[in-house]
Amino acid sequence: MTNYKVADIGLAEQGRLKIEWAESRMPVMMSLRERYGRTQPLKGMRIAGCLHVTKETAVLIRTLAVAGAEISWSGCNPLSTQDDVAAALAAEGFPVYAWHGQNVQEFYWSIDKTLEFKPTLTLDDGADLIFTIHNKHPELAKNVIGGTEETTTGVHRLRAMGKDGKLLYPVIAVNDAETKWDFDNVYGTGQSSIDGIVRATNVLLAGKTFVVAGYGHCGRGVALRAKGMGCNVIATEVDSIQALKATLEGVRVMKMDEAAKVGDIFITATGMKDVIVKRHFESMKDGAIICNTGHYDCEINIKQLEEVAESKRTIRPSNEEYRMPNGNRIYLLAQGRLVNLAAAEGHPSEVMDMSFANQFLSMCYLARHGQGLAKDVHDIPGGQDDEVAMLKLSSMGISIDELTDEQLAYLNDYSAGT
Ligand code: ADE
Repeated sequence: MTNYKVADIGLAEQGRLKIEWAESRMPVMMSLRERYGRTQPLKGMRIAGCLHVTKETAVLIRTLAVAGAEISWSGCNPLSTQDDVAAALAAEGFPVYAWHGQNVQEFYWSIDKTLEFKPTLTLDDGADLIFTIHNKHPELAKNVIGGTEETTTGVHRLRAMGKDGKLLYPVIAVNDAETKWDFDNVYGTGQSSIDGIVRATNVLLAGKTFVVAGYGHCGRGVALRAKGMGCNVIATEVDSIQALKATLEGVRVMKMDEAAKVGDIFITATGMKDVIVKRHFESMKDGAIICNTGHYDCEINIKQLEEVAESKRTIRPSNEEYRMPNGNRIYLLAQGRLVNLAAAEGHPSEVMDMSFANQFLSMCYLARHGQGLAKDVHDIPGGQDDEVAMLKLSSMGISIDELTDEQLAYLNDYSAGT
């Protein structure tokens, strides 16, 4: 009997090579694997994971297993699974329930399968696994010592649950680690989203008017990269501080109603629904390209696009053309799902090295201390950010200075002045 469901187990060798490549770019993970393989901090833990099945995630899964954990895994997005990687993991004996192109029912079936072994820890990206336990299988929560959450959207929702006293176990907000959001969200999302747009279209970016909705860490990362590729970048915002930041970084800020008329390429990175809607589609130029890099596919109102368009056809992988009543064509990439994972391979390994080091160390912390934590959302343990940053720097051969005792005393000396 198989304990997995993947698209094609015959892809395992190709996936194995991809994972090997990722491992060669993830030195922090490899050093943690070596260290914690000896001490086995996850022995006896059953970890259910719901996170994009990519070559980088495979490195995380292998590392959790080497540290003693039993694993069961599903993807956290219907279009993000790399089928060869899923096959490689299944061939190694990991119960993986993930394939590219799942429908919603298959997506939740896969999550349910990972819960069959009654996890003691959960690892989420987008909180669908935690929500499934809370809403559908609350009886499982009594076995769960704690969970982690990878993404901004998931953390927002979990904080709201925690505030209402609705969380059944403690959750660590891995997203909020500095060594996660300051790198993964900015440089990871920046590069991989541009990669997705290029793979789905191969358009020349130089000279294009590139509209980024949301100038948070992810939107800013995309804007910086688009600027570097020669685009004229426009940001749309609802937050005055972010709008000011964008302006002072040389990015024009305007309302989406105005941006819709002038943009060549649009990307949403807001975590909010209905950012691009019918009236925007109607005012877009012929040939406009639209996509999303936020966790959920609600930022572009695709239902309205489908209603208003007169016809639709697939032009190339991850690229659908909608013909508007005025004859204009709008190109929707990756069905409005995460363009960086659905049309490309997600963030590069080097940056996931830090995000997943935080996941791994948070899992170890929960295994040891989770029982004593309040049922709420917690920051990563003190010192973890510094540990991850120092490991990363050291893997890059970079040393930094240390404050002397005199300098430390100077820091705290409030009698010193001009
Ligand atoms: N999220 C963004 N990029 C990712 C990747 N490469 N692997 C897993 N999760 C991701």
